[in-house]
Amino acid sequence: MPITTCIFDAYGTLFDVAAAARRAAHEPGREGFAPHWPRIAENWRLKQLQYSWLRAITGDYCQFWVVTEEALDWALEAEGLDGDGELRDRLLQLYWELEAYPEVPDMLRKLKSQDQTTAILSNGSPAMLDAAIQSADLHACLDDCLSVEAVGVFKPDRRVYDLVGQRFGCAKNEVLFVSSNGWDAAAAAGYGFTTVWVNRAGDPVDRLPARPHHVLSDLTAIPDLAAR
Ligand code: LAC
Repeated sequence: MPITTCIFDAYGTLFDVAAAARRAAHEPGREGFAPHWPRIAENWRLKQLQYSWLRAITGDYCQFWVVTEEALDWALEAEGLDGDGELRDRLLQLYWELEAYPEVPDMLRKLKSQDQTTAILSNGSPAMLDAAIQSADLHACLDDCLSVEAVGVFKPDRRVYDLVGQRFGCAKNEVLFVSSNGWDAAAAAGYGFTTVWVNRAGDPVDRLPARPHHVLSDLTAIPDLAAR
């Protein structure tokens, strides 16, 4: 079956989640924060994902924004920065305006010129995703943005991947699913999508029941892959 529908994870895949801490670290007056930003970015993301998995298992769904705040609080405390309310507010504000990776706009435009359907499928709440799409100016090259909020459970629950077929009426083998999260690409491959793992860091592949079909170092080659 040819690919008709290209579905993207949002955080870490289209949007650079480290950008919030990195940008804050370069703002005037934040010299004290500068040495901490890489650890904050790493722990913020790690805890955000761990909390989403645990809440999916225990059935304690909440908006992804809540998990994002709780994860930041953990990360700030781990660096001894939990007393800095202004820094916390600034980091959370920057999460609403994350940068897209540089190749994203061109890549999505190429897919649209190939008549592919393009959409996001994300743990993010609709308001967060909408803000990130607006700030990266991606509205014109995305057909839709699907949020787990519709099913009240986080990835990698299969009900999340079901949203794609429900929205676009496509078969699983017409979908190219793209994620920088190895576990997300693996779960989507197990679900039946053709998957790409965007492995920017050169990490080892996750040892999970399914493996991604393709591994790329960035998103540039997605339109060629979709056209194959
Ligand atoms: C998302 C997270 C998993 O956007 O990156 O769904």
